[in-house]
Amino acid sequence: MARWRPDMKEAEATPESLWLRRRDFLRLGAAGALSLAWPGRSAAGGPVGVPLPVAKRVTLAGGEALTPWDDVTSYNNFYELGTDKSDPAVRAGTLRPRPWTVTIDGEVKRPLTLDVDALWKRFPLEERTYRMRCVEAWSMVIPWVGFPLGDLLRQVEPTSRAKFVAFQTLHDPAQLPGQRRAVLEWPYVEGLRIDEASHPLTLLAVGLYGRVLPGQNGAPLRLVVPWKYGFKGVKSIVRITLTERQPPTSWNRLAPREYGFHGNVNPEVDHPRWSQARERRIGEFLKRKTLPFNGYTEVASLYAGLDPKALY
Ligand code: MTE
Repeated sequence: MARWRPDMKEAEATPESLWLRRRDFLRLGAAGALSLAWPGRSAAGGPVGVPLPVAKRVTLAGGEALTPWDDVTSYNNFYELGTDKSDPAVRAGTLRPRPWTVTIDGEVKRPLTLDVDALWKRFPLEERTYRMRCVEAWSMVIPWVGFPLGDLLRQVEPTSRAKFVAFQTLHDPAQLPGQRRAVLEWPYVEGLRIDEASHPLTLLAVGLYGRVLPGQNGAPLRLVVPWKYGFKGVKSIVRITLTERQPPTSWNRLAPREYGFHGNVNPEVDHPRWSQARERRIGEFLKRKTLPFNGYTEVASLYAGLDPKALY
């Protein structure tokens, strides 16, 4: 994500050159050394970590090729672990994703506080392969493992006042040292309308590629909303609160002209500093056209009657 600076250019927000340098480095034979230093890396480059019991597999990326594990786990935005794309993978060792307690509270009849592993075991885990689109104009295809957030919301029984769902990342500078710097206001927060949160495409993910989530991808629990820009996918969640009022969101707080509450992928609404019409799929050279709602047009009815230009 682009840190807010008025003079910033697209190339700085999407440091492709850095990325290519790292790949060259791997090709030069440093993969073994990196695998020791980088959590979530295997010498062979395949998935590592504890396997999860996946009950069902669904591909919702139109047959597009998966982005390799190594790319998904080494090109990340997680400002609590550094602001460069390569920082989270290198620094994720400070995050201790277990034991981990999650609270679901606010406008609900049955609030819950429980261990993350007890939480996901309440639901059959699904592998859902989604296209993911970052506001910085790059994208990936990722096989997440998780369960629909809507299934959890049904269990806690929202009251009639519940209109929004607010999410909060862990606030602990010992585990997330980036929180010692005021790059964003901490903790990282995000929000959805309750109908968006309940949509069957909205996942709470606990894994990817059949394994538990690595720290850099938001262990142990993160949000995945495939029709929205990646910044909505809040990582390392400790609290989910149902609210009557629209909650604040981290990027909107920082730069409201650049990041709206909705964050829907809309190729026709440019970011103030670059176009959103095309995207670079990580691992590909030529840019491809960005699809409205990232291709998940079944959600369009959620926004009927609203100005699509205001939904960025
Ligand atoms: N969550 C927290 N807590 N902190 C962050 O900096 N970055 C967001 C989102 N969730 C972020 C976060 C952004 S900008 C993106 S693009 C996605 O995480 C990246 O997810 P990934 O690294 O798993 O691809």
